[in-house]
Amino acid sequence: MTAHADVHDDGERLSSDELAALQLRRLRATLSHAYEHVPHYRQAFDKAGVHPDDCRSLSDLALFPFTTKADLREQYPFGMFAVPRSEVRRIHASSGTTGRPTVVGYTDNDLSTWADVVARSIRAAGGRPGQLVHIAYGYGLFTGGLGAHYGAERLGCTVVPASGGMTDRQVRLIQDFRPEVIMVTPSYMLTLLDEMERQGIDPRSTSLRTGIFGAEPWTEEMRREIEQRLDIDAVDIYGLSEVMGPGVAQECVETKDGLHIWEDHFYPEVVDPFTGEVLPEGASGELVFTSLTKEAMPIIRYRTRDLTRLLPGTARPAFRRMEKVTGRSDDMIILRGVNLYPTQIEEILLRTPGLAPHFQLRLTREGRMDALTVRVEARREADSAQRQSAAASVVRAVKDGIGVSVAVEVVDPETLERSVGKIKRLMDLREPR
Ligand code: DLL
Repeated sequence: MTAHADVHDDGERLSSDELAALQLRRLRATLSHAYEHVPHYRQAFDKAGVHPDDCRSLSDLALFPFTTKADLREQYPFGMFAVPRSEVRRIHASSGTTGRPTVVGYTDNDLSTWADVVARSIRAAGGRPGQLVHIAYGYGLFTGGLGAHYGAERLGCTVVPASGGMTDRQVRLIQDFRPEVIMVTPSYMLTLLDEMERQGIDPRSTSLRTGIFGAEPWTEEMRREIEQRLDIDAVDIYGLSEVMGPGVAQECVETKDGLHIWEDHFYPEVVDPFTGEVLPEGASGELVFTSLTKEAMPIIRYRTRDLTRLLPGTARPAFRRMEKVTGRSDDMIILRGVNLYPTQIEEILLRTPGLAPHFQLRLTREGRMDALTVRVEARREADSAQRQSAAASVVRAVKDGIGVSVAVEVVDPETLERSVGKIKRLMDLREPR
């Protein structure tokens, strides 16, 4: 027994060499499994002139072709499955904004692995067996609710499957059941916080100690806002349905310095989003994942479109970290030639006195020029002079920091639409040319 026996599982205790050996063995098995059982992979590998036997070291993975969301859509519904449908125990799907949904499947073993990595994530976040976990991620085809649920049960917690919505009831459940842990999107946490205050409850007085927030980008400024208002540790959980769901990577509460990737199950690469070239540790680019243990739907070099960089492990030294995801390449707004992400605006707004963390971005076209309006709520105590100076200071900070002019409208408290799950920050109101 090691000193960490109660906190770390077997996978977390691997040395770097043991992990690398395990990864290579699992990677080779995954490539063969995909090649033998999924016609899409056989065709793609054959076309690229590679065979699973060509993978002799982890870096040989770069020889293999990428998989994109479009590939998964083309195989709708079950074409990516590597096992007979009767062995697929569960299906999830993500709707996306356009086109066919992306369908994913899990065998019994896959569901068990998923519960294990989520249990490990909750532990890394500070959760412990016996605690009560309030889950306000949506239940259903979305992986958030059920993924968190089985992980919390696996850890030995008491689970409250609240799902999203019915915000006033959620607040009552938190008051009455006294959970230590909450799992929810950061934007819906803000909605819950506002509701607590509306009901006259001081959020700092609740039983909550740990918040495990993910499914959408959020900034350090947002962490400070939530930790301060709720008196909890707020940590980041990352995942995507194509790779598994929540629990692909998790921030450790001891360090809060980016997310440790559970590399015994998910092999990360960061590539140049334009050339596809694999980038060295520390360089920013697009995150790509290969599953190492999935049976129902092995996934090879999946292009996540999430932008981040890989860093060495800290609290869990064998596992590399990924920096907090600042945005998806799809969320990038190109405004008069300048690239900007909603998280950059979030940082600025949350640093500005008098402004609440509720905002929306509206992209319009004026003549031949695109224009961006930031609509942000004032804090309740802000008077009109403070609102005006806040607006001016955001305009200046965006111009100085990002290099582009935007309009800022400070609106009354509680006038912008609230999130009940993943928030959509950008409204693109431009007429198609
Ligand atoms: O959002 C899985 C999940 C549920 C993760 C609950 C964490 C908590 P999808 O619906 O397939 O799966 O969406 C995946 O959401 O590619 C990222 O763009 C974004 N995303 C997920 N977690 C984070 C995070 C779930 N912590 C997509 N930070 C991903 C930033 C995140 N973006």
